[in-house]
Amino acid sequence: MDNLRNLRGTADLLPDQLIKWQNVESILREQLKRSSVREIRTPIIEMTELFERGIGEATDVVAKEMYTFLDRGERSCTLRPEGTASVVRAMINNGLSNNLFQKLWYMGPMFRYERPQAGRQRQFHQLGVEYIGSHSPRSDVELITLAWDILQKLGIKNLSLEINSLGNIEDRENYQKSFRDWLESNYKLLDSDSQKRVNKNPLRILDSKNSETQNLLKNAPILIDFLSQKSIDRYEFIKENLDFLKIPFIENVKLVRGLDYYTHTAFEITSDELGSQATVCGGGRYDNLIKQMGGNDTPAIGFAIGLERLMLLAGKNFEIQRHIDIFIINKGIRSEALAMKLYRKLRKYDVITEIDISGSSISKQFKKANKCKARSIIVIGEEEAMKHQFKIRLFSDDENNEEKTINIDDNDGLEVWLKNIIPIN
Ligand code: HAM
Repeated sequence: MDNLRNLRGTADLLPDQLIKWQNVESILREQLKRSSVREIRTPIIEMTELFERGIGEATDVVAKEMYTFLDRGERSCTLRPEGTASVVRAMINNGLSNNLFQKLWYMGPMFRYERPQAGRQRQFHQLGVEYIGSHSPRSDVELITLAWDILQKLGIKNLSLEINSLGNIEDRENYQKSFRDWLESNYKLLDSDSQKRVNKNPLRILDSKNSETQNLLKNAPILIDFLSQKSIDRYEFIKENLDFLKIPFIENVKLVRGLDYYTHTAFEITSDELGSQATVCGGGRYDNLIKQMGGNDTPAIGFAIGLERLMLLAGKNFEIQRHIDIFIINKGIRSEALAMKLYRKLRKYDVITEIDISGSSISKQFKKANKCKARSIIVIGEEEAMKHQFKIRLFSDDENNEEKTINIDDNDGLEVWLKNIIPIN
């Protein structure tokens, strides 16, 4: 299997790692359920056009990073690089893009052909939340607060929330005109990447990693000065309410985000502990996207959390795994058959059961039960099998640890004993 490896930028998640993924995911699901956000699942493969139109052809994601191919019917397909465009398509296709307020979440793999590094993969996972159908700045406050609280709930410290307002399309076009003029007059001083963006996607220059460009940008016009009074009012409302809820935030006038669909609110949550790929959560409002994709004029806002980055931050707190509750030790043909029957029966209860099928000696099986830290053991040897019985006890040397003999068909007797390790409903 020398040359059969997983693709660069993809990762296997092995059972030991998945313990923390599952623990974190179950907290995420629970928090979303408590906030009455409902799950939506869309295909991971879509028509390429969906992302070209939805995310914007000049964005890095569409121009350079999509996994696009022709299927056998010569249709151009793309593995989803993000979830928002797909959710919008699903809403429109299913006649749900009206102004009924909907709160949706999704979780799953996304694909971007980026240079892999810590916290950046080609197949990665996101939890996304989309609030569709409300123009009210209260939904912005609510959504940002949800993102913040989820990360707090996972015990992640030292996060920083940055927010900005991109205004409406008109505000942004006015800004873009003035910014482009400024860029053109400073063209020679820009780094080469930024020079390429002047015509295609000038706002992304604000995000440039080049320190000289960043220095130069200090004198550039800023978007916030081009916002209409209405846009300023809604931005002020959001900031006031975040203050009221004691959600700490920093205003970052250069925060523009990498996808074209944003209007008004844009935000990111970052952590110093993540190194260069510091953003764990990014989101914003996209009031024009649904209409632009053929739906009704429906405002919306959402965010996505990168799960790999989330695990880097929160994973350590969630490595605790539930050990095996019952280990069934069995030896001999008749015992093995009864052990199988019991193993099957125990699936009715909330206990994790392991059965030894090695056929090795009873003492070796005891060692195995010990190694996997089983909480209790069932023993079915030849003698027990003859009598149609098994012995069960907690796995400890404590003298008070009484061993119980139960008939294989005595469900009541088994349930009484199981109360030692689980509450039975
Ligand atoms: P995004 O900023 O492109 O936004 O991605 C959101 C998060 O996904 C990032 O902050 C990061 O944590 C994670 N992420 C992105 N690319 C990678 C990668 N290559 N490897 C690992 N993690 C990655 C969106 O995708 C928008 N759809 C968010 C949104 C929802 N806006 C409105 N609604």
